[in-house]
Amino acid sequence: MKQYEDHVQMEFRLNGETVFVRFDVDETLLHVVRNRIGLKGQKGSCLNGDCGACTMLLDGVPVKSCLMLALDVEGRDVTTIEGLKDTPVQQAFIEKQGFQCGYCTAGFIMNAQAMLETHPEADEAITNNWLASNICRCTGYEGITEAIKRAKELIADEMGK
Ligand code: FES
Ligand code: FES
Repeated sequence: MKQYEDHVQMEFRLNGETVFVRFDVDETLLHVVRNRIGLKGQKGSCLNGDCGACTMLLDGVPVKSCLMLALDVEGRDVTTIEGLKDTPVQQAFIEKQGFQCGYCTAGFIMNAQAMLETHPEADEAITNNWLASNICRCTGYEGITEAIKRAKELIADEMGK
């Protein structure tokens, strides 16, 4: 990392690509990804850690990117919804229409992706526990839950189970 009086320059991996970015020291990961790099998939809403719309994966673990300083991801792997193109989870949300206005959707998908990587057999209790960190203001939870069930099926099919 190069540090200057009021900004820094550093590298990290974003959706599998190395990015080199310059930003002010107090910028959040959400702000840098959306406004410095230009990937707008993850949304800002509450900006205080409550809603989960901004959820990204950091080394595979969901984080609220509105609360994380971009400085802290130097050299690490960040994934956004743009990095999950054509994955079973994204496919399942489309098939089951697991969205209404769609504002929360990318956050739910990131969280579901992480859950299914660590708990491929997640039951209803595990799913509800994981989804508790995200809020859908349209209250479309039924469609989201159906989409996650479908994602489990698609992943099992891919693995030949
Ligand atoms: S915008 Fe980050 S948790 Fe709501
Ligand atoms: S689909 Fe509108 S906030 Fe969730």
